[in-house]
Amino acid sequence: MNRGSFFSIEQLTASEIEAILDTAELFEQNPNRRLLEGKVVATLFFEPSTRTRLSFETAVNRLGGRVIGFSDAKNSSSVKGETLKDTIQMVSGYADLIVMRHNLEGAALYASEVSRIPIINAGDGANQHPSQTMLDLYSIRKTQGKLTDLKVTMVGDLKYGRTVHSLIEGLSHYRPSFAFVAPKQLELPREYVEYCEEHGIPAEYYHELTPEVIGASDIVYMTRLQRERFLDEEDYEAVKDTFVLDCNLLQQAKPSMRILHPLPRVNEIAQEVDDTPNAYYFRQAVNGMFVREALICRALGIEVKE
Ligand code: CP
Repeated sequence: MNRGSFFSIEQLTASEIEAILDTAELFEQNPNRRLLEGKVVATLFFEPSTRTRLSFETAVNRLGGRVIGFSDAKNSSSVKGETLKDTIQMVSGYADLIVMRHNLEGAALYASEVSRIPIINAGDGANQHPSQTMLDLYSIRKTQGKLTDLKVTMVGDLKYGRTVHSLIEGLSHYRPSFAFVAPKQLELPREYVEYCEEHGIPAEYYHELTPEVIGASDIVYMTRLQRERFLDEEDYEAVKDTFVLDCNLLQQAKPSMRILHPLPRVNEIAQEVDDTPNAYYFRQAVNGMFVREALICRALGIEVKE
C-alpha cells in the first residue's frame, strides 16, 4: 500500500487531523501556491459528484498541477468490463495521485492496495467520505473555535449517509456528545451505535426533529436521504420528506449554533434557513477546497510553509 493513501478517517490521529486543518488554514489565507508544478492528479469518479470533484480539481489547478480523469463511469472502460484493479494499475502509470469515488464500500482501500501511487477516497458507497469529514472538522473548528466538548446533532439518512459515519469517527477524538435523529428505517447502523458505546461517547436517539433537540446543539448536521442506495423506490417515497429544517425549528437555537450539510440539499433544509446566521453549509463547501489542497499535499509528501 502507498503510504500517502487516505481511505478512512480512522487512519488519522488527533494531532494529524489538527496538522491538516492548520495547513488548510494556510491555504485559506493564500490558495494559489505552485506546489504541484509538473504533477498530474487523476480524478476517477465512478459515481456522480459536484463539490468533491470540482473542489479537488480546483485545488489541483490552484496548486499549479494538471488534472486527468472522468466524471462518469460510462465514459470509462469499466463499461467494457475492465476491472477496478486494471484501471488503477493503468492510471498509476499516468498520474502522481488518484482521487476516486466508487459505489462499492471498501473500493478505496482495495485501490490503495493495488496502486503504485497514493489514493484519496472521495466516497466509497455508504462506507466513508474522509475528505468530507476533514472539511466538516475544519468548518466546526472555524465556527466554534474548538473541536472539543461539542454537542453534534446528526439528522436524516444515518443508515446510508457515509459523511455521518466518517464524522462520528473523526469527532471521536474530541469528547463529543451526539444526538441522532432519523426515521426508523434509516437509523444509525448498529456498528456505529456500538462504536459510540465502546468509545464512551454519550448518544441520544430520536425519530423526531424538535426545537428542543436543536436548542441543545452546537452543530446540526443535516443530510440528504441517499435515494440511490435504497433498494426499493417505494421505501424512499415513504420517508423522503420526514425532516425539513425550517425557521420554526430554529426558535431555540443558540446564536453560535451552525447548520452544516455535506450537500447536495434536496428539500431537508427550507430555503428560508439560508439567510439565517446559523446557516453555514455553502461556506462549508468552499472550505472543502482549502482542506483538499492540504490533503493533496499530504498525500504527495509536499511541505507547506507559511
Ligand atoms: N458533499 C459531496 O460529496 O458532494 P458531491 O456529491 O456533490 O461531491
